[in-house]
Amino acid sequence: MRLSGKTALITGAAQGIGLAFAKAFLAEGAQVAIADINRSKAEAAARELGSNAIAVEMDVTSQASIDAGVSTTVAALGQIDVLINNAALFTAAPITEITRADYACIFDVNVAGTLFTLQAVAKHMIDNEIKGHIINMASQAGRRGESLVGVYCASKAAVISLTQSAGLNLISHGINVNAIAPGVVDGDHWDGVDAFFAKYEGKPSGQKKKEVGAAVPFGRMGTAEDLTGMAVFLASEDAAYIVAQTYNVDGGNWMS
Ligand SMILES: NC(=O)c1ccc[n+]([C@@H]2O[C@H](COP(=O)([O-])OP(=O)(O)OC[C@H]3O[C@@H](n4cnc5c(N)ncnc54)[C@H](O)[C@@H]3O)[C@@H](O)[C@H]2O)c1
Repeated sequence: MRLSGKTALITGAAQGIGLAFAKAFLAEGAQVAIADINRSKAEAAARELGSNAIAVEMDVTSQASIDAGVSTTVAALGQIDVLINNAALFTAAPITEITRADYACIFDVNVAGTLFTLQAVAKHMIDNEIKGHIINMASQAGRRGESLVGVYCASKAAVISLTQSAGLNLISHGINVNAIAPGVVDGDHWDGVDAFFAKYEGKPSGQKKKEVGAAVPFGRMGTAEDLTGMAVFLASEDAAYIVAQTYNVDGGNWMS
């Protein structure tokens, strides 16, 4: 029960990695707000997870929605000790086909959404003298460019950079900001990635997933559950001296 008595707000937690984080945090004794743009899915998840979980409708591209989500969480759970900035979108296209609309959409969710949710929760933590923990979801895609994934890679590089700046700035308030960089994690997100590669590389559906899984040194794609240990650790007091870092949890795909 390493998170006993803690409350966590997790964005994009209605499915996938965020939902696995919510389950792991509950198992460690935390109360959890499942914040997602998909209200009905968040509510279904919260119902399934029991009385220590609440659903919060939140669109991280809207400041009003972020502020309302933070207020709703504080009203229901008392305070926020842990934020996981997990909500994100993926896109892929050759450089000559990237559109401004796609770029704006991805950066609005992945970068501005991360920054301004972090900011809103940091203000709450500072105002209430909470020595909180903030975890941003980066990606191996933020460690280097990829031929067809320019916009998403740039957005995740920005998440790593923001983690460094926010980590350095907020540690003076006793708030730890760190990030997790997953590799390739099976689930809805990667089904979407696979579809992009089917389109641009002419691969049959499911082929890209097989290839990336076989290329992982560990021997397979990751699962959402492979990431929960790092999230629980970074949210716990064991990580108090860890500041502004991004941890690769990727089966050995990337070393840094
Ligand atoms: N799956 C992978 O292989 C992988 C690899 C590296 C990094 N990541 C990162 O991990 C995180 C979780 O990935 P996942 O695979 O669970 O993704 P997912 O697509 O399965 O889930 C994303 C969730 O975010 C929500 N969301 C989307 N836009 C939102 C918005 N504007 N406001 C609030 N919620 C919104 C969606 O409704 C969904 O529930 C993301 O940050 C992703 O970039 C995933």
